[in-house]
Amino acid sequence: MKTIAIIGTGIIGRSWIRVFAQGGFRVHLFDTDLSRMQEAFRWFREDIEKDVADGFLSDDEAQKQLTNVNPCLELTEAVQNACYIQESGPEDLNAKQTIYRALETESPPTAIIGSSTSGLDIEPAVRELETAGRYLTAHPCNPPHLIPVVELVPTGKTLQQTMEKAKSILKDAGMMPVCLNHFITDFLLNRIQSAVVQEALYLVKSGVADVEAVDAVIHSGLGLRWALLGNFGVNNTNADGGIREYYTRFGESYREGIASLKHEVPSFSESMISDIAEQVNRMEKDVPVNEICRWRDRMIRRIRQLKEEDPHPSLLVE
Ligand SMILES: NC(=O)c1ccc[n+]([C@@H]2O[C@H](COP(=O)([O-])OP(=O)(O)OC[C@H]3O[C@@H](n4cnc5c(N)ncnc54)[C@H](O)[C@@H]3O)[C@@H](O)[C@H]2O)c1
Repeated sequence: MKTIAIIGTGIIGRSWIRVFAQGGFRVHLFDTDLSRMQEAFRWFREDIEKDVADGFLSDDEAQKQLTNVNPCLELTEAVQNACYIQESGPEDLNAKQTIYRALETESPPTAIIGSSTSGLDIEPAVRELETAGRYLTAHPCNPPHLIPVVELVPTGKTLQQTMEKAKSILKDAGMMPVCLNHFITDFLLNRIQSAVVQEALYLVKSGVADVEAVDAVIHSGLGLRWALLGNFGVNNTNADGGIREYYTRFGESYREGIASLKHEVPSFSESMISDIAEQVNRMEKDVPVNEICRWRDRMIRRIRQLKEEDPHPSLLVE
């Protein structure tokens, strides 16, 4: 059984515990704040219990996962024999550099180190390290134990074999690694998300529509297709002749539509946040966020199960 170490056990680190435990790895945890690690372990147990109650996990499997996770009091103990280390410390380059410097002396030199950073360029934090070639970014989408995509981003120092090994270990853990060729601020996922968030906020602020209408065109429109095909895959199905016909026929409309976008940077001022929050609470009829999250988590699992049972036709081609 291969060992994975998770360094930093906040909201993302704790979800990584579930990823690797359900992937059949031995998982070691370490956090400089013992209470955070205890909290994460408690969350891990309770989340597994919820999955058993909802019928997604058998008692046996739950027990196996629980016994393979070990909180560790020392970093040295956590990284012992680790083939892969998922750094999930604070989103601050100095904090990450402190962790990497410690890993440099404490971890096996063959271990690959993936950073969960949401958008930082980790190169300045690893550049001077002797084994800089084994570090890369492995950015998950929250929560990674439910959403499989993970963005692998090399620094200028990352070895190709590091990318390959990380890809293979994360695939074995049930994730879907996506490789970028080089760093760009916010990577793919958050750039695309920012573009949607920006336009959604603009449409509400300018009075074109309310929050509920904007969300409806996503959850009952675009999002239903996006969960299956992605942007280019959807474009390919929007004309009988595929993407070539679609872009040829609709390219000009897109050019006009894209030119009409305002590219206005939202203020995220107190009054803007209050206005949006009030509309969101009305839309959600004040149902508590944790109840909505529990429903969301169940539905993501069901959608993933359906996709496995009835896979995209290209997956059936030899
Ligand atoms: N929260 C999200 O939605 C999200 C999504 C994707 C990626 N990320 C990224 O994941 C990383 C973790 O995010 P988070 O929201 O879980 O942060 P968090 O602040 O909740 O957790 C960070 C943890 O790291 C611990 N820590 C600090 N210094 C440490 C050290 N030297 N050694 C070990 N542990 C240490 C802290 O005690 C804390 O428990 C960040 O880089 C973040 O950008 C976050």
